[in-house]
Amino acid sequence: MISSPLMTVMVDAVRKAARGLRRDFGEVENLQVSRKGPGDFVSAADRKAEEVLRDALLKARPGYGLVLEENGIIEGTDKSHTWHIDPLDGTSNFLHGVPHFAVSVGLEREGQIVAGAIFDPIKDELFVAERGKGAYLNNRRLRVSGRQDMADALVGYGTPYLGRGSHPRLLRELGAVMAVAGGTRRMGSAALDMAYVACGRLDAYWERDLQTYDFAAGVILVREAGGFVTSADGAAEPLAPRSVACGNEGLHRDLVAILKKVQAA
Ligand code: IPD
Ligand code: CA
Ligand code: CA
Ligand code: CA
Repeated sequence: MISSPLMTVMVDAVRKAARGLRRDFGEVENLQVSRKGPGDFVSAADRKAEEVLRDALLKARPGYGLVLEENGIIEGTDKSHTWHIDPLDGTSNFLHGVPHFAVSVGLEREGQIVAGAIFDPIKDELFVAERGKGAYLNNRRLRVSGRQDMADALVGYGTPYLGRGSHPRLLRELGAVMAVAGGTRRMGSAALDMAYVACGRLDAYWERDLQTYDFAAGVILVREAGGFVTSADGAAEPLAPRSVACGNEGLHRDLVAILKKVQAA
């Protein structure tokens, strides 16, 4: 486990937000739900969890900026630090009673993600990472998978909400990956997809049309677990392109090559 004042702040915040989510998941049919766009829902649980995170992080680090999924951007006085906050990653799973969702917080310092915490309250799995200090699942140090052959690999991906993003391209990419990968999974939480790459449950993962709060924490988790993360186009920092491809060194390279070939065709 990582013991640092920063990690204590992050872990306390995600655990506190997750307490409400666990409660609300038990009576999800009573939650107030509204639609942000076609197929894109937000519930009172998302909003409450975000308030808990915002208040906890503002209290602990008053000057830092915040990028919040449900409440937008809060500019900080400290321009070099920004939190990227997803209070409930996997809202569709949550609202359908599928027990696979997480709270995710990543910290950006001078354009680089330097710390992340992702908490799955149903499985009681806390994934944390800080630059130079490693990545952990609960108390276990993480390492990405050692598989080298795409034919053996389990590859995660994500699909954008209806009306957002490029579905025809995704279908071509998925076809190309399915033709060579051992298996594919669309699990429904970008944060957990990346946490699963960090701990070797998935061998690789890609998704486009994301927001920074979907993947910020995942970036540092995968890197600190010895993996590689770029944008889906292979650009070194995924924050600006807002897409992700990740895996161990070899499978990340192979995945990006497949995506590039589809792009060029
Ligand atoms: C979504 C999830 C999903 C991914 C979507 C995200 P939300 O986040 O991470 O796995 O495919 O692109 O928007 O809306 O559940 O926080
Ligand atoms: Ca999300
Ligand atoms: Ca969310
Ligand atoms: Ca959402």
